Amino acid sequence: MTAAELRDLAIDIAHEAGALAQRRRAEGVSIAASKSTLADIVTEADREVEALIRTRLDAERPGDGFLGEETGGGEGSTGITWVVDPIDGTVNYASGIPLYAVSIAVVEGSSDPDGWTALAGVVRSPVLGETFSAARNEGAHLNGERLRIAEPGPAGALLATGFGYDPRTHAGDLAMVGRVMPIARDLRRGGSAATDLAYVAAGRLDGYFERGLSPWDFAAGSLLVQEAGGAFLRPESAGVVRRLSLAGSADLVGELRKRALAEG
Ligand code: IPD
Repeated sequence: MTAAELRDLAIDIAHEAGALAQRRRAEGVSIAASKSTLADIVTEADREVEALIRTRLDAERPGDGFLGEETGGGEGSTGITWVVDPIDGTVNYASGIPLYAVSIAVVEGSSDPDGWTALAGVVRSPVLGETFSAARNEGAHLNGERLRIAEPGPAGALLATGFGYDPRTHAGDLAMVGRVMPIARDLRRGGSAATDLAYVAAGRLDGYFERGLSPWDFAAGSLLVQEAGGAFLRPESAGVVRRLSLAGSADLVGELRKRALAEG
């Protein structure tokens, strides 16, 4: 399959998965468990949506690997891995806030983000009826319309960020926000990293920064940003556990990197 064909399959699966998430939301949400911290929840729907995606892939792409937020990894034999967040923005979802998305990426090579090459990515926002998609070297699209990132205007950059689920990391994240704010026109905390990245690709946001993302949070969104002409970077710095993710134009990412990492 070409990258464009993989993207089209991912779009089809993401639509079905998003519809299931939306149906379950309408029926009422039950929290299944807390994960890393009390704030880090998983709903029954997260599990059911991931199972749907996995079942479709088992049928249509037997032999591919899988890395999902809820069920972890399974090595494949084809060199291709599907990296899936069934519901990115679970807290929004559980709280009845419509900003959540199904994120599906197809990567080649390693199943580690430092070693993979992303071939295709889809972020499907079922409530808003928006499908952001990209295939390697084929550009990024929203419902079929070609996307292009934005450059910050004279008032500064419209930025988004996020905070991890561990309360012990909040002070450090807020200090980082303080260092970045001088170049910001304003700051959003939408609650879905995949959607934030899709919005950077669409030029709705100028840039994005967050520490501690997991691979499934950014696998699809990072390709969207790159295929829309932007940069996505996860700088390594000695001793840092929660790596920083940055997205935007190359210039903005350079500036964000300097400021965000200025003191740790
Ligand atoms: C979370 C969301 C949130 C981000 C967190 C992620 P989840 O993903 O993307 O915006 O700030 O870092 O873990 O748990 O809702 O799939």
